[in-house]
Amino acid sequence: MELFAVSQPGIEEVTAEELKELGIKGRVVPGGVEFSGGLEELYRCNLWLRTATRVLVRFCQFKAKHFAELVRKAKRCKWENFLKPEISIRIRVTSRRSKLYHTKAIEERILRSIEEAVGFSPKLSRFEDEGTSIVVRFERDICTISINSSGPPLYKRGYRVAETEAPLRENLAAAMILLSGWKGEVPLIDPFCGSGTIPIEAALLAANIPPGRKRTFAFMEWKNFDEELFRRILSEIKERSVKSPILGFDIEEKAVKASAENAKAAGVLNLVKFENLSFPSLSFKEGVVITNPPYGKRLSVRNVKEIYRRLGEWVESQFSSYKLLFLSPSESLAKETGLNVRKITHFSNGGITVGLYRADR
Ligand SMILES: C[S@@+](CC[C@H](N)C(=O)[O-])C[C@H]1O[C@@H](n2cnc3c(N)ncnc32)[C@H](O)[C@@H]1O
Repeated sequence: MELFAVSQPGIEEVTAEELKELGIKGRVVPGGVEFSGGLEELYRCNLWLRTATRVLVRFCQFKAKHFAELVRKAKRCKWENFLKPEISIRIRVTSRRSKLYHTKAIEERILRSIEEAVGFSPKLSRFEDEGTSIVVRFERDICTISINSSGPPLYKRGYRVAETEAPLRENLAAAMILLSGWKGEVPLIDPFCGSGTIPIEAALLAANIPPGRKRTFAFMEWKNFDEELFRRILSEIKERSVKSPILGFDIEEKAVKASAENAKAAGVLNLVKFENLSFPSLSFKEGVVITNPPYGKRLSVRNVKEIYRRLGEWVESQFSSYKLLFLSPSESLAKETGLNVRKITHFSNGGITVGLYRADR
C-alpha cells in the first residue's frame, strides 16, 4: 500500500526519523512523509508514531474528466477491502484545476460507485471524528482517493482527562522531546507544565510505551482488520524502566492537579512528579529543560518578557550543564532569556506560529 503519515509543517523530518526507527524508509514532502507498507506497517505506525497527526492509505488513483468516467473508475477501487455494512464513512472532496469541480456532485458519484461496488449503502457519519473518513482529491483531473486509517487525530492519545488553558498538542510536545535527543538518561524538567503534556510525553517515550496504547483506530473497524496481527504487535511492546526524574512545575495549583490526573490516565503517574512551584531550586546539576512558557494574549508584554528573562536566569543558576528547548512567538522574546539561542524549527501552536529555540551549556 502507498501510505502517508500526515505531519504538521515544521516537524515532518521528526516524523521521518520516527519512521526510520520503525524500520521504514520514507520520503519527506510538505505536510508529511510518504512511504509504502502492508497492514503490519499501517498498524505499527498508528500505534507508535508520536509526532504524526494521522496515517492515510492512498488507495486509488485515476484520471477522470466527466462524471460517468468517475463512477466507472471509482467502482474499480478495492472498497470491499475495508467497507462493511456496520462501519460509517464520511467523504471529503477537494478539487483544483480540474474539469470536475462541483464537490457535492463528486461526493454523490463516489457514494454511488461505492454502493455499486460493495452492494450496500454505507452508513454516513455526521461527526468529524466518527467512523472512517475518505478523502477525494482532484488535481489537474487526477482523482486520488485516500482513507484515514487513524480515525481521530493521533495526538488524541486518550489521556487528556483534565484540561488547563492553552495546552500544547501532544504531537508537538513529543516533537520537542525527540528534537532534544533526550532518551531518559538525565532529568527532564518542564517549569511551566500546565496540564503536564511535556512530562507525560517524555515518560511515555523513556518507558518505550506507544502513544496509541490507550486508544482505538479506524482500521480496527475495517473488513480487512487482522486482529491477530494487531495483537501480536501489541504483545511485542517492551517497556523500559526509567531511571531519571521527570518533573513538572507550575505556579497554578489546578494545573498541577490536572497534570497528575492526566499522567494517571496515561499510566505514567509513577514516572513523573508534579509540584506547585515557580522556578524551584533543584538538587541535580545536569538536565534537559523542555518547556512552553506562557506568551498568551492575556499577559502584558512586560510580564511575558519577565518570564523569559527569569527562565534564562533560572537555567543558568540551576545547572552546570543543560539543554534548554522552549517555544517563543518571536526571536526577540527568545533572546530575552539572555542565552545564546538558536532556532531549530517553527510550527503552528493553537493558531499562533511559534519558533522552537534551543540553548545549551
Ligand atoms: C502555555 S501554558 C503551558 C501548557 C502546557 N505545556 C500544557 O500542555 O498544558 C503555561 C503555564 O505556565 C504557568 N505559569 C505562568 N507563570 C508561571 C511562573 N512564573 N512559574 C511557573 N509557572 C507559571 C501557567 O500557569 C500555565 O499553566
